Amino acid sequence: MDFLNLQLINKRVKQTNYSYREGVVKKVIGLTIEVEGIRAFIGEVCLIYNERNDTINSEVVGFKEDNVILMPLGELVGIAPGCKVVPTGEALNVKCSEELFGKILDGLGQPLTDEEIISGLYYKLDTEPPDPLKRRRIKDVISTGVRAIDGFLTCGEGQRIGIFAGSGVGKSTTLGMIAKYAEADVNVICLIGERGREVRDFIEKDLGKEGMKKSIVVCATSDKPALVRLKGAFAATAIAEYFRDKGKKVILMMDSVTRFAMAQREVGLAIGEPPATKGYTPSVFAMLPRLMERAGMSDKGSITAFYTVLVDGDDFNEPIADAVRGILDGHIVLSRSLASKNHYPAIDILNSVSRLMTEIVEKQHKDNVSLARDLLSTYKDSEDLINIGAYVSGSNKKVDMSIKYIDEINRFLRQKIDEHTNFEDTVKCLNNIFKK
Ligand SMILES: Nc1ncnc2c1ncn2[C@@H]1O[C@H](COP(=O)(O)OP(=O)(O)O)[C@@H](O)[C@H]1O
Ligand SMILES: [Mg+2]
Repeated sequence: MDFLNLQLINKRVKQTNYSYREGVVKKVIGLTIEVEGIRAFIGEVCLIYNERNDTINSEVVGFKEDNVILMPLGELVGIAPGCKVVPTGEALNVKCSEELFGKILDGLGQPLTDEEIISGLYYKLDTEPPDPLKRRRIKDVISTGVRAIDGFLTCGEGQRIGIFAGSGVGKSTTLGMIAKYAEADVNVICLIGERGREVRDFIEKDLGKEGMKKSIVVCATSDKPALVRLKGAFAATAIAEYFRDKGKKVILMMDSVTRFAMAQREVGLAIGEPPATKGYTPSVFAMLPRLMERAGMSDKGSITAFYTVLVDGDDFNEPIADAVRGILDGHIVLSRSLASKNHYPAIDILNSVSRLMTEIVEKQHKDNVSLARDLLSTYKDSEDLINIGAYVSGSNKKVDMSIKYIDEINRFLRQKIDEHTNFEDTVKCLNNIFKK
């Protein structure tokens, strides 16, 4: 039970007369457990003792008259009316240290293998974002190693970006590339609600040994209880905060925020919240900024964050996509039509923006991108005409120019999975397109 700072609890029990009143399970309704006879706070971990005296961890999620509502951080199996419940006086923590490198953790931040994190600092899963006035401003570029991003959607160190895509258009592959090639000290990768097979695929295929060396993976697969999936996102953020406090350049990647929102919806509905937009409860929309505001700059280090958003049926206006777009400082859209043309990474440049780009890149770079965007958009408008041979060369200067440059621009945008371009080379490549 390393996610509870047991030393601290014991100390507190000795020092104060914190009343450890016992309670009993009254009812189990759906995913919730109603307990009589304890006093506890929201987020407090409680231990439930089953008939065999094994403990089941649970968390306080609400109240009902004088009773406390718990949700288990594991399976409900074995819980019956009359089981003993003991509040611990502690909220969830994750033990952080350099030992975490290369490790795969569960949603509560515990290593999935038998290894133990021997020493470390406990970081609270739920904390406040850095003080807005103490945050350093974003002024440096962070190179991701992916040309289309570094060239057209340059990200700043400490920026928070959404990656919007349907399933199977290359989210995991792109995140894997960023993990391998970006200039970061640490990658914290959080996989929420994926299938078990996808997690293995991602770790072995997309990250590989090279990517894993400076990475920490937190995963809460779809079969895990909603509360654990939710905690996974907070645990990963807390680990990223630990390294940021040490002055490190951290990249946090979360795949996906949509599944995080779905987990919160499940918890919300279970404790009786009313469903609002598309069945999402109001707490979902309160939770999203609370999670994502924690990334970014602090006075010590930085967390540059990439959050993926699933857009089912390529509906970019569904409520989660909408809410996330409003919170973040940029979005990268992956398009199925590009993927189907074998254009990878399938980034739809014209529909993507990095809101901070203009503040952090050189003028020449900005001018090149602005021209290239113009040409891409001109070409797109006339593409149908060009393809059926209806466009007569010479009838429009801009279209002629777009035809001249389109292959060159697409060659720049396409990138093989094992190909790494650093930021200087990306800027040079972009320059070279228009020199010819
Ligand atoms: N940069 C790329 N180069 C070549 N193929 C890619 C690239 N990105 C994605 N793909 C192809 O798309 C498939 C699905 O990508 P994946 O990253 O698993 O999608 P998602 O995570 O969005 O479901 C991959 O198996 C691969 O064949
Ligand atoms: Mg994937």
